Amino acid sequence: MKILQKVEECSESYGCSFVPTMGALHKGHITLIEAALKTDRPCVVSIFVNPKQFGPKEDYSKYPRMPDSDLAICRQLGVSAVFMPDEKIMYPPEFKTVVSIPTLSNCLCGLSRKGHFDGVATVVARLFGIVKPAEAFFGWKDAQQLIIIKRMVDDLALGIKIHGIETVREADGLALSSRNLYLSDAERKTAPNLYKGLKLGEAAAQNSTAGVVIETARQYIESSGLMIDYVDLRRISDLSAVDYQKKLDAKEQYLLASAVFCGSVRLIDNVKIF
Ligand code: PAF
Repeated sequence: MKILQKVEECSESYGCSFVPTMGALHKGHITLIEAALKTDRPCVVSIFVNPKQFGPKEDYSKYPRMPDSDLAICRQLGVSAVFMPDEKIMYPPEFKTVVSIPTLSNCLCGLSRKGHFDGVATVVARLFGIVKPAEAFFGWKDAQQLIIIKRMVDDLALGIKIHGIETVREADGLALSSRNLYLSDAERKTAPNLYKGLKLGEAAAQNSTAGVVIETARQYIESSGLMIDYVDLRRISDLSAVDYQKKLDAKEQYLLASAVFCGSVRLIDNVKIF
């Protein structure tokens, strides 16, 4: 397995199947890598904790960094190369560009994480420019990120096939996330109620208005001891808002998404409806 650190070294990765990550690899990332390995292209993983996607009060310096175990996982899985640039390579002093998709970024997680999705789109655009993959893999757990990246790739005609891979969950439903490491034992027991609430909302969707779907999820999540940042229902196609008074249209696909604080740990999750 090659370890690539400079932009020029990545020329051999062109046309690969690519999995961008911030490291601290867990079963969720492994599922993305396994999906990339199933293509007949070499699989390249990037590991870069992107400062541009962390807000001033967020956990950039505390974000888990474990390069040795990440590299061991990639090697064992059969990854061809890992791109591990440092910050000067990703953002040289003259770097000026910001990639922004405002209508998709200014809702859901974008409301409380200002600038986060500009940071994500900017780093992914630069990674795509350096690695020049043919295909790239992202998880549905970060649904808004996935939808934004798909739009960016289409709008900029980047010609990269974007795959959305289903969320990997613990047996009790908790979506895998690097942030789960921060949960205390008691918080870990409360955390699965986020997914349970979303599933209750989904179950209500057949016969109810959008407002009832949201309220069903919200009430369960709130009463379970989680602190809600948002619970919202959006069209998957363009993240546009729905009319709370109207029943959902079974011909459309929707995203019921939520972010909560479990103690001080921010967790996100979502379910697709129809
Ligand atoms: O999902 C992540 O880990 C990050 O947001 C990504 C896509 C690697 C960009 O830094």
